[in-house]
Amino acid sequence: MNFKKQIFGFMDMLRFKKMVPTRRQMLAQGDNKPLPQEYRTNTLAQKLHPGYMQVELVAARPLTAAIRELTFKRVDSDAFPFFRAGQYASLQMKIGDSVVSRPYSIVSTPQQALENKLVLAVENAGFVSEYLNKTAKVGDRFVMTEPSGEFHYETLRDSKNIICVAGGSGITPFLSMAGSLADGDESYSMLLFYGARTAAQLAYKAELDALAERCKDLKVVYVLSDEEQPGCEKGFVSVELMKKYTDLTDRTFFLCGPPAMYAFIDKELAPLNLPKKAVHRDAACCHDLPLDKPAVFKLTVHMRDQVYVLDAKENETLLAAMERAGLNAPNKCRAGGCGFCHSKWLSGRYRIADGRDGRREADRKFGFIHPCVTYPLEDMEIDVPVAY
Ligand code: FES
Repeated sequence: MNFKKQIFGFMDMLRFKKMVPTRRQMLAQGDNKPLPQEYRTNTLAQKLHPGYMQVELVAARPLTAAIRELTFKRVDSDAFPFFRAGQYASLQMKIGDSVVSRPYSIVSTPQQALENKLVLAVENAGFVSEYLNKTAKVGDRFVMTEPSGEFHYETLRDSKNIICVAGGSGITPFLSMAGSLADGDESYSMLLFYGARTAAQLAYKAELDALAERCKDLKVVYVLSDEEQPGCEKGFVSVELMKKYTDLTDRTFFLCGPPAMYAFIDKELAPLNLPKKAVHRDAACCHDLPLDKPAVFKLTVHMRDQVYVLDAKENETLLAAMERAGLNAPNKCRAGGCGFCHSKWLSGRYRIADGRDGRREADRKFGFIHPCVTYPLEDMEIDVPVAY
């Protein structure tokens, strides 16, 4: 309705008086079709970000003596969301009285996700991974988070030429990145150095060779530290070895492997004085601290309208203590980076694992913590959201 400025102000009041009948008249003329229940934008957002998903283990096979491949399908929908090759998904399960979860890099490609197939590879190391590696069987159901993480190629940030270095089971995100490149979903040129002790410990060699065969922008170099094998380099992934295959100027490095590999590569790359953004490391979970006789404190947890009091060891994260007690606390990366476990600190001193404080300044200021990287130093009280 257009309002014109009236010469006499009281005329506006007359218009105001007519407003209710006019509105009634317009309502009477209106369409009585119900409003849509769903909007296209919301449907797309829900597909891309389903949050937690119900999944079923549909196939399992050993890759090496220590690594087992697990293939999942989604049971609450007919497809996984499209993701960025290199990301991880976190699997949650109940083992005994504990509700536990762990993040694993996705092996399969984003295109396979749309065919309702998502593959993880799990090394036999640690409580949860050992369960998945040895005990989980086809038909078992789990809760899985949507794919997440920053370990993926970013056109605006990264060089078109990427050098990837994998150690042991750290090959997993690179399988997805190589597959995605071969599928035409990525545009980088990828040189992958894959290190292991022996050829028998190389997982996915046949798959990588097949991908390199069909994709001219992918080259894989196998590096064995403990034996000579035809077609493989002998030794470690040093800068000297990299230079044998490529010029190292204007390259972005992606690293994924055990801590010893990171320590070695960091030393090797140091003389190159690379900018921070040129080297990406896949984040590893925060584990128990190596303390001889860890003290045991009381951890009071507020969750919705419930209050739980549980034991928390000095050398374990608050998240691990809550999981051991069977509490369903939210988490994804378990490395301090995603903020998904973000909880309110109420009392008690604590320490944060070195280099893992990924909180925003406002979170620090207003007393929020990430329980996945926080260790208690005395009795503590926290307020935690429920996962789902
Ligand atoms: S689970 Fe990602 S920050 Fe805690």
